[in-house]
Amino acid sequence: MITIDRNLIQKYNQSGPRYTSYPPANLFNQNLNDIEYKKIIKDSNNNKPTHISIYIHIPFCKQLCHFCACSTSVYSNEQLVEKYIIALKKEMEFVFQFIDTKREITQIHFGGGTPNSIKIEYLEQIIIKIKQKFVLSNNAEIAIEANPAYLDKEYIQNLYKIGFNRISLGIQDFNLEILKIINREKPLININELVETIKTTGFKSINIDLIYGLPQQTIETFTQNLIKAIELNPERIVTFSYAHVPWVKPAQKLLENYKFPSTEEKFIMLEKANEILTNNEYDNIGIDHFAKKEDELIIAKINKQLHRNFQGYCTKTTTGQVYAFGATAISQLTEAYIQNQKNINKYIKEVELKNFAFERGYKLVKKEMITRDVINEIMCNSFLSLNEIAKQHSLSLEKLIQMINPKIKLLKQMENDGLIRIVNNTDFIVNKNGNYFLRNIAMAFDDQLKIEHENIYSKTI
Ligand SMILES: C[S@@+](CC[C@H](N)C(=O)[O-])C[C@H]1O[C@@H](n2cnc3c(N)ncnc32)[C@H](O)[C@@H]1O
Ligand code: SF4
Repeated sequence: MITIDRNLIQKYNQSGPRYTSYPPANLFNQNLNDIEYKKIIKDSNNNKPTHISIYIHIPFCKQLCHFCACSTSVYSNEQLVEKYIIALKKEMEFVFQFIDTKREITQIHFGGGTPNSIKIEYLEQIIIKIKQKFVLSNNAEIAIEANPAYLDKEYIQNLYKIGFNRISLGIQDFNLEILKIINREKPLININELVETIKTTGFKSINIDLIYGLPQQTIETFTQNLIKAIELNPERIVTFSYAHVPWVKPAQKLLENYKFPSTEEKFIMLEKANEILTNNEYDNIGIDHFAKKEDELIIAKINKQLHRNFQGYCTKTTTGQVYAFGATAISQLTEAYIQNQKNINKYIKEVELKNFAFERGYKLVKKEMITRDVINEIMCNSFLSLNEIAKQHSLSLEKLIQMINPKIKLLKQMENDGLIRIVNNTDFIVNKNGNYFLRNIAMAFDDQLKIEHENIYSKTI
């Protein structure tokens, strides 16, 4: 069942940023020096949000899934992992000395790679290091991105014991044939048993990641995935659109030997996700995230208080400036982004030498901070009030519009296409159908986006 005009899908399926950050990471530069780096971290103590989010990147996997666009590598050398964890702790200790310990931690997120592919002791050492220095808020989220291929009852119980309260399961597809094609290992234990164990152990929340658009997937197989995911009854479900970027991730070329679903089929899959999940007690967030109606993310969305960082959506109470550790990790501070060395060996070497290992970053000017807020409103809350943004930044409406320079003609076209409703030229309300095109709508507020961005970004649909 397709309810959206196919011409619109054709028209708007362009390359464009995902806007997990603004400006997007491809615009980061190498202009930052060591002194500025330390100053940026110290200055972040005076900015809002005052809370602290910590991101730990574990860039290790036991096998490379051929679809994977994450920053990771296959390891067989335990010594390398050990050296990496030592470097990680050293980097944390160094950066922590610049962060005001009166600030509370609301979020710790372990991502990768596959954090659960390494020994639990390493994860524990990192959590201890954080707790030794900072106070965690009452409802602090401690989350891990986990691959079910390495999760058994014992590992789950140990994760809980060392403090994790949220777990995100990378399912991608339940179909073993498709897992084989994408070179992904199958779950270690039966998935029903796995989810049951996570629930009875006491975890507050389970998220399931699915991907649509993988080779050999059909609308039918994807629908089966949705039904299976609902049966497992997790708090959140994400249906990522497969990003095919073989110029960055050459292993993805191997998948080109198989049949991919067409753009239209992919779109129908997303529509199915919307239809089936919203008919089964989930509400949608942004383009492809879904959460149970009573989930704090849905409540935040209703109150137009939803935020987003590289780790996903968050609420006003969990949002903090993100201090990120490990290779490729990106700190997201109010006034700057800072990204670490991508190469694991280089990262270790630099931390051994000078305690930190940033490679590039981006210092935002006021106009960019405002555009970031504008894009955040579209991507998270599907609603934008320019008056509200002007007020938050102590600007007149005229000055704000002059600064961000929205593409009004394009926005009017989107209104004619039924994607948005524009009220008084100041309020932009995303229609139900417009939710599928949030990236395109955000692009209309991105003054820096160049036309010639093919082969930099994935397709918006
Ligand atoms: C750090 S990764 C995976 C975590 C864990 N290693 C696993 O495999 O379950 C986080 C998520 O990114 C998504 N992802 C990875 N590559 C992708 C791609 N090419 N397109 C869309 N989503 C992708 C997957 O859904 C994955 O669960
Ligand atoms: S999807 Fe997960 S397990 Fe597979 S290669 Fe990527 S990070 Fe590793």
